[in-house]
Amino acid sequence: MGRTRWVVGNWKQWGLRPAAHALASKVAAGLEAPPAGLRVGVAPPYLALDTVHAALAGAKVVRFAQDAAAQEEGAFTGEVGPAMLAEAGVEGVIVGHSERRHLLGESDALVAAKLGCALRAGMWAILCVGEPLKVRTAGRHEAYVLAQLEAALAHVAPSETGRLVVAYEPVWAIGTGRTARPEDAAAMHAAIRARLVDLLGGEGGDRSILYGGSVKPDNAGILAAAPDVDGFLVGGASKDADAFLSIVRTVAHHTKAHP
Ligand code: PGA
Repeated sequence: MGRTRWVVGNWKQWGLRPAAHALASKVAAGLEAPPAGLRVGVAPPYLALDTVHAALAGAKVVRFAQDAAAQEEGAFTGEVGPAMLAEAGVEGVIVGHSERRHLLGESDALVAAKLGCALRAGMWAILCVGEPLKVRTAGRHEAYVLAQLEAALAHVAPSETGRLVVAYEPVWAIGTGRTARPEDAAAMHAAIRARLVDLLGGEGGDRSILYGGSVKPDNAGILAAAPDVDGFLVGGASKDADAFLSIVRTVAHHTKAHP
C-alpha cells in the first residue's frame, strides 16, 4: 500500500455559521466512505468549527483548522493554540498557507514554530510551500520551495513528523483558475520528496505531498494521476459541496486503482 492520499477543503475566511453548517451537511450527506488509504478533511473558520463538527457527526472527515499559534499558550493576544483547538475537536491544522505568508507577513521562522507546536501537540499539520510567479518566471522555483521546506523543518525531529503532510501550492495558481501542468507539479513533488528523504530519512518517504492551486472537478483527474501527487488541498472548489465531492470521488477512484 502506498502513501495516504488526502483531499482537504480549505474554506478560508468565507461563510457565516449557517452557511458553514449547510455546506458541511451537504458534504456529510454526499460523502461515500473513503477507501482505505484516502482521508478527507475540511478546514472551516474557527468560529464555525462547532457547528461544522455537529453537521459532520459520524462522517469520516478529518477536522482541520486553518492556522494555529506558534506556542501552546501565553500572552499572545488573539492567538489560538493547538490544545485549544484539540479541545474543540480539531485534529489537524494548515500551517504556512501562502495567504498567511504573503498577505499577512508570516516568516519562515514563524511557520517553523507553528509547525513544531502543532506536530508536538499530536495534530496533523499540512505545511504549505509554493513559489510566487516572479520566482517561477526566473526559474528559481525549486530552490525557493526547498528552502521553505527546509526552514519549516529546521526544528522538528524526524520522530515528530508522523503527522506531517506537505502541500505544494504555487502562489500563482491559488484562486486564479491557473493550475500547474501535471508535469510541473510532478517535478516539484519529486524534488520535495527527495529533500524530505534527505531531511527525515525513512519518514520522508512516507509523508504525503498534496497539490493545491485551482483544483477543480475537471482537472483533478489529470493532476491525481501525476507521479508523487498524493491528493489535494482545495480552496475555491471546496465551498461547493458537489464540486468538492466530485474531487473526492476522483481521488477515491485513483486510490482504489493504484493503492
Ligand atoms: P484554490 O485555493 O483551490 O482556490 O486555488 C487553494 C488553497 O488556497 O489552498
